[in-house]
Amino acid sequence: MSARMRLSRLTAFAVLALAPAAFAGSSTQDSPAANCVTCHGKEARVFQASVHERAGVTCITCHGGTSGALDVAAAHGEHLKDLKSPRAKVELCGNCHSDVDAMRAFGLRTDQLSLYWTSGHGRTLTEDPTAGVATCVSCHSSHDVYSVKDPLSPAHPTKQVATCGGCHSDAQLMAKYGLPADQAAEYRTSVHGKALLELGHRAAPACADCHGSHGALPPRVDDVEFVCGNCHSTVDAHFKQSPHARNPGSSAAVECVSCHGNHAVTPPGPAMFLGEDAGHCGSCHAVDDPARTVGQKLFDDVERLAATIEEAERDVRAAGERGLFLGEERGYLDDARGLLVRARAMTHALSPVLLDDVLERGKGMVAQTRDSLATKNRVFRDRRIFTGIFLGLTVVFGLMLGMYAREIRGRARRAAVGSGGA
Ligand code: HEC
Ligand code: HEC
Ligand code: HEC
Ligand code: HEC
Ligand code: HEC
Ligand code: HEC
Ligand code: HEC
Ligand code: HEC
Ligand code: HEC
Repeated sequence: MSARMRLSRLTAFAVLALAPAAFAGSSTQDSPAANCVTCHGKEARVFQASVHERAGVTCITCHGGTSGALDVAAAHGEHLKDLKSPRAKVELCGNCHSDVDAMRAFGLRTDQLSLYWTSGHGRTLTEDPTAGVATCVSCHSSHDVYSVKDPLSPAHPTKQVATCGGCHSDAQLMAKYGLPADQAAEYRTSVHGKALLELGHRAAPACADCHGSHGALPPRVDDVEFVCGNCHSTVDAHFKQSPHARNPGSSAAVECVSCHGNHAVTPPGPAMFLGEDAGHCGSCHAVDDPARTVGQKLFDDVERLAATIEEAERDVRAAGERGLFLGEERGYLDDARGLLVRARAMTHALSPVLLDDVLERGKGMVAQTRDSLATKNRVFRDRRIFTGIFLGLTVVFGLMLGMYAREIRGRARRAAVGSGGA
């Protein structure tokens, strides 16, 4: 057992031994670090709300120093750790968090440190101890460490764009490493950034969902599809059938990001099948390339269905305004729209033949909508004619009834006059 392992076992023991004192903590009188708190009120206040305070970790666990002493020199002792160097931070946090025994009670993973050393951040730190890379503290803070599920944590999905962007938008820092500094700005404008940050859709990815947190690296060429496909599994399955997925991993490989981009994923649309803009078929395939014909055919086929659905929707809306009840027809159109969505996902296979079936069914649903609407329109018209005739008859009948009543009254009067005269 190495000295370091023994030390970390010891730390683990200290944590577990202190766990029952969880509600005591370092900011109260009976904590071993009560003396530190006397002079360091600012740090203590912040620390008080952290996960560590609740777990019985104290100032002394991380910084060393002497319990009880109220004189600066005696309290700090000779080996007080200021923890300012990036490496000291990584080792402090990482060693306790990789201790399986210490972490078991809390059900936490223990791979953060080993993953960290494989990340771009960790590898650069190994080469240059003063590198401006992320350490555990950059992403979790030092004293106010919260659960990563707590929205106050800098590692929380809604905070990552600010936390990662804090460094990755710093053009001067990034220039030192030959990296662009546009990821956070692009991400904010993307479908993903808007969904997460503006609409609160928690299923949309934050930085670490695509990059990993502790092993943060750009996904390698052959991982990109996996990263996107993790969430977009239907599209991914169709993409795998396409000629673009024939040579995965090769430098010529076409991936999700070749067409959609990585950080600035914009709402996609059929226009991408046409023209030469970035990500459109024509950005890679010349005008006379048969691939362009495939793109045009996919566009034509899918847009024809889209246009038919739109037209039917207009007619259904107009009929609704005339007071017809159209629940059934709206149901058919919903089905047609569902098939259109499926067709758009299926275009990723780049095979017009594969689309035939779903497009036919879509057209079928529109035809059914139209038939049903026509029947209701006919009934509506017939009913109007019938109502007209009925109204007309009622009027005529009413008139006749009036005349008859007058006739009766006339006759009665005449009879009365006749008998009075007798
Ligand atoms: C009597 C007051 C007093 C007590 C008790 C005390 N400190 Fe300090 N501490 C100071 C002062 C003053 C400074 C800033 C000057 C210095 O660096 O010595 C300081 C600085 C520090 C620093 C920053 C060191 C640096 O180089 O920037 C750390 C870390 C620290 N204290 C931890 C502790 C811990 C842990 C304890 C408890 C074991 C403790 N202190 C107890 C007064 C105190
Ligand atoms: C989980 C480990 C941990 C615990 C517990 C902890 N600290 Fe720290 N502390 C750090 C780290 C890491 C740094 C360095 C932060 C940095 O450079 O960003 C630090 C920095 C400091 C500093 C220097 C601040 C500065 O601005 O230069 C002081 C003072 C300090 N801690 C006091 C305390 C006191 C008092 C407590 C107890 C209430 C405490 N710490 C608890 C990890 C810890
Ligand atoms: C680049 C930012 C970043 C760095 C550096 C980082 N973390 Fe994390 N950490 C995260 C994120 C984000 C999460 C949220 C879970 C996830 O997405 O994996 C997390 C989760 C955690 C968790 C919760 C359990 C888990 O693994 O899910 C612990 C504990 C943790 N980190 C400790 C550490 C330690 C210790 C270090 C240093 C060795 C470290 N982190 C370095 C971003 C970071
Ligand atoms: C002495 C051991 C020890 C040290 C040192 C330590 N931690 Fe922890 N940490 C723990 C324990 C124990 C927990 C579990 C607390 C709980 O769940 O109540 C924890 C919890 C966490 C969590 C919350 C995980 C989650 O999402 O549930 C994060 C994040 C974290 N620590 C990061 C750090 C960072 C960053 C440092 C260095 C500044 C650090 N830890 C230093 C023991 C330690
Ligand atoms: C404290 C500043 C800092 C923070 C915070 C930070 N990074 Fe970094 N990151 C860097 C620096 C500096 C580099 C360049 C070093 C390298 O990769 O060799 C880097 C490199 C990277 C790389 C590798 C780029 C490449 O091509 O090698 C990725 C990916 C990355 N960071 C993602 C993230 C993510 C995701 C987060 C947040 C969860 C994050 N970073 C937080 C400073 C930071
Ligand atoms: C939807 C997935 C996704 C999200 C979200 C994401 N990235 Fe990336 N990122 C990638 C991919 C994929 C690459 C690899 C480059 C490529 O092949 O296009 C990359 C590359 C990078 C690089 C390497 C340099 C570069 O720009 O090529 C850094 C640094 C980086 N991302 C940081 C971030 C940060 C910071 C965030 C959050 C603001 C973030 N990423 C969000 C997918 C994502
Ligand atoms: C963590 C899951 C997740 C990952 C990883 C992910 N996405 Fe997304 N993506 C979503 C969610 C959720 C939405 C819907 C956002 C909304 O609510 O509008 C979305 C939306 C999209 C859209 C817009 C769809 C539309 O109909 O407007 C595209 C295009 C897209 N993602 C492409 C990608 C690409 C390319 C990658 C990989 C670089 C990727 N996604 C990675 C979850 C993910
Ligand atoms: C060759 C270019 C290209 C590639 C590669 C590509 N897409 Fe698309 N993607 C498109 C086009 C074009 C559309 C728009 C289709 C439409 O609106 O008719 C689209 C639409 C989408 C949509 C929205 C439609 C839906 O079904 O929700 C998502 C999500 C999406 N793509 C994700 C991905 C993912 C994930 C990958 C990788 C597995 C990927 N795309 C690969 C061109 C591409
Ligand atoms: C990023 C560049 C790029 C974009 C954008 C792109 N392609 Fe491709 N495409 C390629 C490459 C490279 C190949 C050759 C793949 C192979 O055979 O390994 C290819 C092959 C094809 C093939 C097969 C041709 C054959 O000879 O077998 C078709 C069909 C195709 N693409 C259609 C499209 C359509 C439709 C679009 C737009 C939705 C598109 N491509 C967008 C680069 C691209």
